[in-house]
Amino acid sequence: MVQGIELYEQRTPRSRAAWERAAALIPGGVGSAIQFTPPYPLSIADSKGSRVWDLDGNEYIDYSLCYAAMVAGHANPVIVEAIRRQAEHGTLFGMPTTLAADLAEEIIRRYDGVIEMIRFTQSGVEATQTAIRLARAATGRKTIVKIEGQYHGGTDHLLVSIGGAPPEAAGPDDRPRPTADSAGLLPASTEYTAVVSFNDLDQMRRAFDEHDGDVAGVIIEPAMTNGGVIPPAPGYLEGVRELCTRAGAVLIMDEVKLGCRVAPGGATELWGVRGDLVTLAKAIGGGVPVGAFGGRRDLMEQISPSGPTIHFGTYNANPLGMAAGLACLTKVMTDDAYKEMTRLTTRLTDGMREVLSERGMPAHVVQVTTLGGIFFGLEEQPRNFREAARCDQERWRDYWFGMLNRGVIPMGSAWFEEFSMSAQHSDDDVDRTLEAFEATIREIGG
Ligand SMILES: Cc1ncc(COP(=O)(O)O)c(C=O)c1O
Repeated sequence: MVQGIELYEQRTPRSRAAWERAAALIPGGVGSAIQFTPPYPLSIADSKGSRVWDLDGNEYIDYSLCYAAMVAGHANPVIVEAIRRQAEHGTLFGMPTTLAADLAEEIIRRYDGVIEMIRFTQSGVEATQTAIRLARAATGRKTIVKIEGQYHGGTDHLLVSIGGAPPEAAGPDDRPRPTADSAGLLPASTEYTAVVSFNDLDQMRRAFDEHDGDVAGVIIEPAMTNGGVIPPAPGYLEGVRELCTRAGAVLIMDEVKLGCRVAPGGATELWGVRGDLVTLAKAIGGGVPVGAFGGRRDLMEQISPSGPTIHFGTYNANPLGMAAGLACLTKVMTDDAYKEMTRLTTRLTDGMREVLSERGMPAHVVQVTTLGGIFFGLEEQPRNFREAARCDQERWRDYWFGMLNRGVIPMGSAWFEEFSMSAQHSDDDVDRTLEAFEATIREIGG
């Protein structure tokens, strides 16, 4: 029986042809390296609700949702209408509209008492980059502490220890070393970045001791979603908060993926630990490129033109993104929508665990409200990136193709990504997904 990659190639000749054409024009044939999965990625022709269709007309239930960004589902009619209406009145002015303040109000309401002021960007990376600049400006210090294996976007000083460096470069488990993960970085990128493992307060404490008086801030994704999904251990975020407060360092909660997704007030609401700054993107744009950073008023007032820390951007707070984001957060992502998405995710993860246990396949499935992850070959929840990377990555690859061939995009396109639910997924989607899951697990050796 033909299966795996071979079947994928038989089913998707038009995606292959599209990718070959693109690869001659665009490095790797993709807009971002993560979009490339060997042998070639699917080329998407259409989408609606929980579904996408590739160029060959194959239909997929989508749990990648553009790396969890599409909380409202694809082509959500409420958001399509908001975009259409705004497009008829103009998409870019380089002058304010009232929409930015409307969206700001909604986010500030959700992050009650934590985000007091907010600035919009075009993407997550601009939000994290500017938050770090602001932390350094506000404290007059240089060092940023980050977590090994966490990804905060492709800017120079954050392309450090994002995971996957060879062990001789990455250092021992209890003392990770900062690694430069891209060519073209200045030595300053690693020199002023201290790297620690997730869920390890001792390492965090040591980083503060070793950089005594020079820690400008800590940037942290409160639950890891780029090293598989790894929730914070009880007390961990509280401990990080306390260390920052004691040292006068700025705590930057990177909620680009989690913000307004895992709860109306994101990870801040879910785990109750307050950052000084919060970075957002994905969910807040309703599928249109929008990012943001916000937080304490005294910090945010240091942003230009109120203060000396520069933040620029032609497309910042553009009306199209603001209209889409506003429709998404105020009309689609109601409290009930979060509840329903969480219920469906629980059904899905319970069902996956049941199949794995029936088939005797070792794997760990984790859920954080509306998203989740799977680690093949691990029986327990990993606590940090290194433990997660010990999962069976080969089996993950078989799983990926097995699910694609059965009409399901099971998660983002790598073992370290998550699956997520949208406001347009249904019980029927979950039923079909669990059928595909059972058949795939059977096929790949369970
Ligand atoms: C936690 C986190 N921070 C920052 C980013 C960068 O966001 P963007 O891709 O919008 O630049 C991402 C992207 O996936 C992310 O997951």
